[in-house]
Amino acid sequence: MTNYKPKLAIVYASATGHTECLARMIADASVRQGLHPDVFPVRKFDLAELSRYDIVLIGTYTWMNGEIPKQLQRLFEAIEQQHGDLITGVFGTGDRCFATYCGAVNLFRDMLHAKTQLAATLKVEQMPSAEDRPRCEAFVKSVRVKYSQHSEILPAAKS
Ligand SMILES: Cc1cc2nc3c(=O)[nH]c(=O)nc-3n(C[C@H](O)[C@H](O)[C@H](O)COP(=O)(O)O)c2cc1C
Repeated sequence: MTNYKPKLAIVYASATGHTECLARMIADASVRQGLHPDVFPVRKFDLAELSRYDIVLIGTYTWMNGEIPKQLQRLFEAIEQQHGDLITGVFGTGDRCFATYCGAVNLFRDMLHAKTQLAATLKVEQMPSAEDRPRCEAFVKSVRVKYSQHSEILPAAKS
């Protein structure tokens, strides 16, 4: 057994605050489950730091026609280049009025499924509420389980 705590980054983009609120709820759930997340709006996240993390959780709103916000494009491309051992999750907010509800979550999900160890996805309509807390807890739990399962087959922890 080891006391190693996985290094967790939560990186999000938010134009009007909904996804930021969801990121904070997921960070709170992570802390309750014994993790120590580093939380970044994407403009403050140095892509060179990506390889330092065992787990990266991405938060996105959705723009016109189901698109990924421009600020997240470089992160999307950088994760595409990562080693396949990165544990990931994607969460986001959207609006069912639009034809492609949370389309950016779907686009991240498909890439993360192909290129990383995708643990979970979570979609919330507009501003999250207290009712979404159990969903945030379940999201983080899925991430922890995926990390535990995957780390059993990995040779060493990160320094
Ligand atoms: C111009 C515009 C286009 C949008 N397009 C979509 C869309 O295609 N799909 C969707 O689910 N939501 C869409 N939305 C809704 C936002 O994604 C939603 O309000 C989200 O919660 C905003 O997150 P934020 O507060 O973190 O910026 C759009 C909103 C605006 C203003």
